[in-house]
Amino acid sequence: MAFLQLVPLALSASILGLLALLFRRRKPLSFLQGPPVSSWLLGHEYELTNQREVGDLEFKWFQDYGTVFRGAGCCGEETLMVSDVDALHHILNTGGYRYPKTKDDERSSEQITGRGLAWAQGATHKRHRKALNPAFTESQLRTFVPLFQMYADKLALRWRERFADSQIIDVSKWLQNTTLDVLGESTFGFHFEALDDKASDFQISIQKIFANSRQPFKLMTLWRTWKRLLPDPVVDYIASAYVTEEDVRFKSFLELAKGSARDSLARKGLNADGEKRSNNQSNMRGVEGKKDILNMLLRSMEDPKKRLDEDEVLSQVSTMLFAGYELTAMTLTWILYELSRNLNDQRRLRGEIDAILAEKGKNAMLTANDYDSMPFLNACVKEGLRLRPGVQFTTREADLDDVIPLAQPVISTSGEMLKKIPVIKGQRVHISIAAYNRSPSIWGSDSDQWNPSRFLRLESTKQQSSIGVFGNVLSFGSGVRGCIGWRFAVIEMQAILVGLLSQFEFQIPPAGLDIHAVPLKTMNVPMVRGELDKGLQMPLVVKRRSIS
Ligand code: HEM
Ligand SMILES: *[C@@H]1O[C@H](CO)[C@@H](O)[C@H](O)[C@H]1NC(C)=O
Ligand SMILES: *[C@@H]1O[C@H](CO)[C@@H](O)[C@H](O)[C@H]1NC(C)=O
Repeated sequence: MAFLQLVPLALSASILGLLALLFRRRKPLSFLQGPPVSSWLLGHEYELTNQREVGDLEFKWFQDYGTVFRGAGCCGEETLMVSDVDALHHILNTGGYRYPKTKDDERSSEQITGRGLAWAQGATHKRHRKALNPAFTESQLRTFVPLFQMYADKLALRWRERFADSQIIDVSKWLQNTTLDVLGESTFGFHFEALDDKASDFQISIQKIFANSRQPFKLMTLWRTWKRLLPDPVVDYIASAYVTEEDVRFKSFLELAKGSARDSLARKGLNADGEKRSNNQSNMRGVEGKKDILNMLLRSMEDPKKRLDEDEVLSQVSTMLFAGYELTAMTLTWILYELSRNLNDQRRLRGEIDAILAEKGKNAMLTANDYDSMPFLNACVKEGLRLRPGVQFTTREADLDDVIPLAQPVISTSGEMLKKIPVIKGQRVHISIAAYNRSPSIWGSDSDQWNPSRFLRLESTKQQSSIGVFGNVLSFGSGVRGCIGWRFAVIEMQAILVGLLSQFEFQIPPAGLDIHAVPLKTMNVPMVRGELDKGLQMPLVVKRRSIS
């Protein structure tokens, strides 16, 4: 977007800012400590979205002020910054739908993924979740294991075909192609064939979706706040008058995704409108056979309480692809990175894998039970998620006056010890997944270090999870809006790690590797220092193991 085009937007934003100042003078969190604020207009928002490395600011702030503190939003708004386990549990779990996503997040979800699960709120969300849940049960996901293994083998085969016995490979791009192929097939029976060098428009679109979204400039930071604070018609007007490059990319992604979903339904001889479909019994046969997520969804819609309209059905496909493919690839990338830096752990994990393969026989296929019976594999997956969460934070808003309990009391500005935080309706809450995952009070003094064995210890002492869906880490969120695909992602990661580590060794290149955890929107993306413009990268030495 040309700079000049921004001037009118800047002017209108400033005028609106003044209006907001006149109407909003509440300081509901003034009793809480918090870092100094240098800009009334931008608060900490701009600094937070422009951190050099994930957690640069927050980790220290949580250390200085405790597990909750007062952060500054734009235009004098106050944000409750949270990493306290009881507070998180209250907001995400006990709270149910009382802490919905904020309006700006709802809008951007709709823009990128359409009217699917990530966008829906309240009763609509409940209906979507009910319709989708049958596709994400443990028994259903176990049927995907052979699919995950097939793609892990295909990736290994490509490496053997294309590369020397020992070569530096950017594993992140390959993992992206793998998880995209996996998700296309399991979500809606679509063959991206990314591992076969077939670059679909759709893939090009999804891979470029955040092309220039790193370090948004100041006006964009403000715009996020306006989307929440201004009346909808004003936001609609500004959004239609000032279309950014990002808006264009989001739109084309969504159109391509819905288009592919529509084609896929047509191939199955179905219509996304549940009514017509269920009246036509001969159509049902197409659904019975295949078991991808879209089919499961259509089947569950026979129950009127779970009925979705056509647009909602199509939007689930873009939602799953968007929410599932890159995060899984990134988490796997981080795990391979940590295993390359910690070769003892890599050897130990490979030992566990070799042992189970020896026990099962060379050509036997492992099952989900086998994966679950591998303690060190699961410890590494959990530790990777904990230390390197793909989503670094999420945001909520109280829809009632409430009191939030704390596990760790904090000291107020007047020196009082606070065990509860009163909040007012509309209070914006920043949920720091990355900071919770590194809380010393939960994880001990080595919370900043990679140490998968901590999970073996935790399990043996039965110190059970108090939040999250997996291993007491918050990386999949928690509660009614926790990640619906967490089990999918875990089984997929287990299968790919076992497939790769049984065939290859991974090392940091001899010249060294300076990886940065770069914040990109809410994500935590591994990039190479000095080459941030190249986006996601992880060049590791990949060495073939001799097959005995
Ligand atoms: C390692 C990989 C993954 C990570 C780290 C991850 C993380 C998350 C997180 C943190 C949330 C909650 C966001 C919030 O509370 O605002 C979430 C939601 C979601 N995830 Fe995942 N996810 C992963 C894989 C997947 C996969 C494979 C799928 C689909 C097959 C998926 C589909 C979704 C959907 C649809 C939501 C929205 C749920 C709702 O709002 O009810 N995710 N994910
Ligand atoms: C990923 O897939 C695309 C499309 O098939 C291809 O152009 C690209 O080279 C692939 N990347 C890697 C690293 O295989
Ligand atoms: C049901 O679907 C089949 C195949 O798609 C079609 O040939 C048939 O005409 C449909 N019947 C009704 C009653 O809609």
